[in-house]
Amino acid sequence: MRFWKKLIAKQIAERIFQALDQSINYRERTALGVPASRLDQKVFYDNPSLLQNAPFLRTLLQNPNHIGCHTLGDSEPFFAGTQHLERELISICAEDILKGEPDAQDGYIAAGGTEANIQAVWIYRNYFMREKGADISEIGILCSEDSHYSMFKAGNLLNLKNYPIKVNFDNRQINKSHLSATIQKAQKDGIRYFIVVANMMTTMFGSVDEVSDYVEILEQEKIAFKLHVDGAFGGFIYPFSAPQLSLNFNNPHVTSVTLDAHKLVEAPYGTGIFLIRKGWIKYACTEEAQYVNGLDVTLSGSRSGANAVAVWMILMTYGPNGWFEKIHILNYRTKWLCEQLDELNIEYFRQSGSNIVAIKSEYISEALAHQFGLVPDIHIGKANWYKIVVMDHVTVDELDKFITAVREMLEKKNVKGFEKLIG
Ligand SMILES: Cc1ncc(COP(=O)(O)O)c(C=O)c1O
Repeated sequence: MRFWKKLIAKQIAERIFQALDQSINYRERTALGVPASRLDQKVFYDNPSLLQNAPFLRTLLQNPNHIGCHTLGDSEPFFAGTQHLERELISICAEDILKGEPDAQDGYIAAGGTEANIQAVWIYRNYFMREKGADISEIGILCSEDSHYSMFKAGNLLNLKNYPIKVNFDNRQINKSHLSATIQKAQKDGIRYFIVVANMMTTMFGSVDEVSDYVEILEQEKIAFKLHVDGAFGGFIYPFSAPQLSLNFNNPHVTSVTLDAHKLVEAPYGTGIFLIRKGWIKYACTEEAQYVNGLDVTLSGSRSGANAVAVWMILMTYGPNGWFEKIHILNYRTKWLCEQLDELNIEYFRQSGSNIVAIKSEYISEALAHQFGLVPDIHIGKANWYKIVVMDHVTVDELDKFITAVREMLEKKNVKGFEKLIG
């Protein structure tokens, strides 16, 4: 690990206070032209004894603005200290977690996974138009039907057509014959360039796409494409639980990745992470952002530096080994849940290494799903699946209560399977 090291709380606080000293403190320095401020003093007043050991709260109060991207060179000098921590965080994610070459990736902390996915599609759309002379009508978005709805937002915003690929109902893998038929259909529609989004754990199932499914057919057909990985859900889990990973920067076909720290990392909302190989983010540069030092290559504009600091703090508190242990505890609990479901002959989907279990809806009554807060695949109409996401607070004790309730329900009716039960 080049950047990711476990630090004790005192070391973390020292690094953050040092970073804050190197960023503008509006109490100590007058900056007449900066349209920014600390948080409102009447509402968010200082409490020195409280703040002494609270680096995140102090960062929130000092309120650094991380506008722009800080892995490229020039950035707003007023916030240099906390920008440095963001740069370190980007390197941890791109190099230590996703195996990128040293100093070979750019990135920034986005509002969430949605923004990071749209940022990727935006970059590749502009690349195809600028470098290949593509007309906008010739560019399509290709991804599985289990992909997050942000792909459809991207298509809508960027005026690109979406081509969702069917997956096999039971194993959630891309249906290759549908992929091939869809590519042919898209070509008939005039599509010559594809923006492919592969999933490193889908929202509902935790399923993981085979990048090679896309690459083989697109290369065989000699169709130009760029590939983005949506790791908003799995980016902080799957690299630690899957022995072989083709969804990182080791894979030459992967140009960019979305991660999301406000899911499994338990960071504050506003901590999506966009990562891309160097040389690409320029396609999202807004030259008109002349008042921003270094211009702006992000979708966000102004964004809170405290978010980057929060994620950096969490990762440094655990360190790589602590994180590995945490993910393996979640996986242990998930495995435990699956064993109980097997015993009850209840059908479910779980990707190996994932902490999501999607149970076929015929085994779960609506009342039970409601009681235990299970989430359905669709809210309008009859659900096909209900999912359980094994997070930090979802302990074996909590899972056991659910399993006991399911068992009681089945025993009461003395049959296996809810469908038979209600018949
Ligand atoms: C796989 C995946 N991608 C993208 C997103 C969007 O993330 P956000 O809600 O942070 O915008 C989600 C959210 O659940 C997700 O699961």
